Formats: sequence, structure tokens, C-alpha cells
Amino acid sequence: MSFVNQNVKPLNTKRNEAGNLEISGCDLSELAKKYSTPLYVMDEVTLRKMALDYKEAFSIYKNMRMMYASKALMTTAIASIFYNLGFGFDVVSLGEMYILKNAGVDFSHATFNGNNKGKDELEYALENDIARISVDNFYELELLNEIAHEKGKIQKILLRVTPGIECHTHEYIQTGQLDSKFGFDLNMVDEAVSLIIEKYKNIELKGLHAHIGSQIFETQVFEDEIQVLLEEIKRIKDKFNIELNEINVGGGLGVTYVDTDAPPDVYKIADITVKAIKKYCNLYNLKEPILYIEPGRSLVATAGVTLYTIGSSKNIEGIRKYISVDGGMADNPRPSMYSAEYFGEIVNAKTEYIPQKVTVAGKFCESGDILIKDIELNSPKAGDILCIYDTGAYCYSMSSNYNGVLKPAMVLINNGKSDIIVRRQTLEQLIQNDVIV
Ligand code: LLP
Repeated sequence: MSFVNQNVKPLNTKRNEAGNLEISGCDLSELAKKYSTPLYVMDEVTLRKMALDYKEAFSIYKNMRMMYASKALMTTAIASIFYNLGFGFDVVSLGEMYILKNAGVDFSHATFNGNNKGKDELEYALENDIARISVDNFYELELLNEIAHEKGKIQKILLRVTPGIECHTHEYIQTGQLDSKFGFDLNMVDEAVSLIIEKYKNIELKGLHAHIGSQIFETQVFEDEIQVLLEEIKRIKDKFNIELNEINVGGGLGVTYVDTDAPPDVYKIADITVKAIKKYCNLYNLKEPILYIEPGRSLVATAGVTLYTIGSSKNIEGIRKYISVDGGMADNPRPSMYSAEYFGEIVNAKTEYIPQKVTVAGKFCESGDILIKDIELNSPKAGDILCIYDTGAYCYSMSSNYNGVLKPAMVLINNGKSDIIVRRQTLEQLIQNDVIV
């Protein structure tokens, strides 16, 4: 049996009787016709299944707080789905907090992360009674204490630490290694703790936070991370006589973008995490802490696909055939940023199967704007619709208006029903902030 994050395609993806690709009862060529392309499509059924798997897998631990890492995909509708599923949120900016608020989410299960939070952002977080702030550095400790003092509050925090663990993922999405811009190095932790105890009276330290990286396939690194966090808690207990009772282990579980990717499933991660907590709490004689996890990618990637229309093509005899689509690096910068790989398929029915090896290029003025290098597609022609899988995470949230293109719309589908949850940008919106002087 495979779990959502181990599948390339959303649940219930198939060819329908007309021969078109269909997800959750929605014919993708109909969606492309109705909403136009490029189009982000999110399948609610797949998204909910993964969220419920996470909840069930981690229900083996009683002091559990499930958070969704908003940076993977944040829209008002998505926030509201996770809220109704009982998730808290990891937010990293004023904008993400604003979207949460717009979705009617209170901040009682939200953590504010980030390595350079602005004063306005911290103020907004405190005004909205955010549950935790994960403080990243000394500058922030002082700033936060000042703001909390002004507002007459005592803000509960975690300390973000850099556990010195390297995981095998793209170097741009590793975060736990020593040479990282994020968090306190372990040798700075004591100073931070003593400052909080002695000087920063408007801050209450509840626990430690770490995040070791993203798109992780190994399991040992998660155990190592927990060992480091609990060792620190034990050290702090021995030295300062306070026992911190919360750990946030971040996110990072990988997904299958292409067949060769082999991430573990969420039950395995839950098992390893909980066993590691029990093991090291026993060893160090600690109470079992409240556990926060904050996955992003693995909750939303597989539920999302992007639909494009194929336009021009270029055949370089003996070298390669390029086919170009009506989107690219502005709606999905991941291939050009991280050499990320994707799988795709022609949506519309074809009378026969004539495989052709092509490279799928975007429409942007950059040679690096390639969505998929060397993929076999069924005789791709201008006007065909191409579906690229696993685009639910870090595509819309990292999209841009490069080359003056409009950001695509997003539809949420569920059992034959489709609803716009993000409208396509308009030309008016593109220039709405421009000023002529
Ligand atoms: N918690 C913290 C503190 C994080 O920094 C992140 C991701 C997460 C949780 C969620 O990690 P996930 O479960 O999604 O792996 N743009 C890159 C990924 C950057 C991840 C940044 N931090 C990409 O497209 O691959």
C-alpha cells in the first residue's frame, strides 16, 4: 500500500470514458476549457486524506500539536480547510498572518517563525495573541521583549536552534547544518536562556524548535534531531534548573515527484519520532514534552497539479525537441531554482499511443526556464493540454509576475465539483500599484 506522499498522482486520477485525464471526477480538459490555462488545480480529497493520515499517524502521541507550514501553499480557502481539520499554523510573515485572519483563523495554535521578523510583524502577532513565537536570534529576543513590554504582555516563545544535522537534500533547502542563517547555534543557547531568565521579563521560554530541511527521504535524521533537542533540554535543566516542556521538530518529509523518489510514509515518521522521544526522555529522565510538527510540502504537493496549453515546438535534429507551454518559471520556479524534477501527461484523449521524447519549456525569456527535461509524452501537439503533477507545494506560493505574466487561477476540486479559490490576476491588478511621476 502506498500513501499520498508516495504517489506521483492525486487519488482518483484516471482516464475517463472519453479518454481524457480525470481527477476526483473532474475532466481536466473541461477544467482547462472552463477556467483557461495555466491553471493550478487542488484536489480536496487528496489533501484531506494526507492531513487525516498525519493526524492518525501522530495520534499515538498524546501531547501532539499538528501545524501546517503555510509557506508551502497559503490561500484563504486552504487556510480554512486546515483550520477546520484542527491544524495549527506555522507562519512566517505579516502576509501569511493576514491571510489566516481573513480565513477566520484565530492564532491560538499558530507559531511565528523566521530569521528576520520585522517590528510590524511581531506587533501584529502579539496583537492577535499568537500562541508561540520561535525566536531565531539575539536581536529578535531584545526586540520582542521590548514590544511585549510595551503591550503589557508576556509572550511565550520557543528558541530556534541549529542542530548541526545535514540531510541529503538540495543545499538550498537544507537548514539544520551548522553553516545556516537560521537559529541559535548550540553554543549560543545558554546565553539566550540566561538572558531570558535574567533580563527579558516579558518573554517566557517554553521549549526548543528546529527544522532540518525539506524534501527529506532519510529517517535517521529525524531521530538525530530529537536526540539533539532533548539533550539540550536536559542540559538546560541541569544548568538552569528549568525543564522546558515543548519541542517543535519542523517539517521536511519528502514526496514522490518522479518514480525514482522514495520518501518514507507518515506512519513510519510518526513511529520514529515518538520512539525517539520516549527513548531520550527515558535516558535523560525528562517528562515527555508537547510535540509540534509543521509539515508543508507533504500535506499539499500531491494534491496539486498544473494544467498548461502546449504552443510552439522546436526540433533540433539529433539533439532534442522542445515543446513550449503557456506558463513556466513564474508559476513554478522549482526546476530552475533547485533542478527539481516533475512528471507530466497529455490530458486530452488521443486515438493512439505514439510516445515522443521531448523537453517541456516554459514561455519565459530564460534558457533555464525548463519545466521537465526529457519526458516521454503521447505525440504532443499545439493546443494539447499538459498536466504536470505534484505542483501543490511551493509553486503558487513562490510564483511571480516575471515577464509581466499574470498569476494563474487556482481551482479546488472535489468529487466532480470545481470552485475557483484564487482568481486569475488581471492586467489592471498588474499595474495597480504603479505610479506615473
Ligand atoms: N518549518 C520550518 C521552520 C520551515 O522552514 C519549513 C520549510 C517547514 C516547516 C516546512 O517544510 P516542508 O514540510 O514543506 O518540507 N521552496 C523550497 C522549500 C523551502 C522550505 C522552507 N522551509 C522548495 O520548493 O523545495
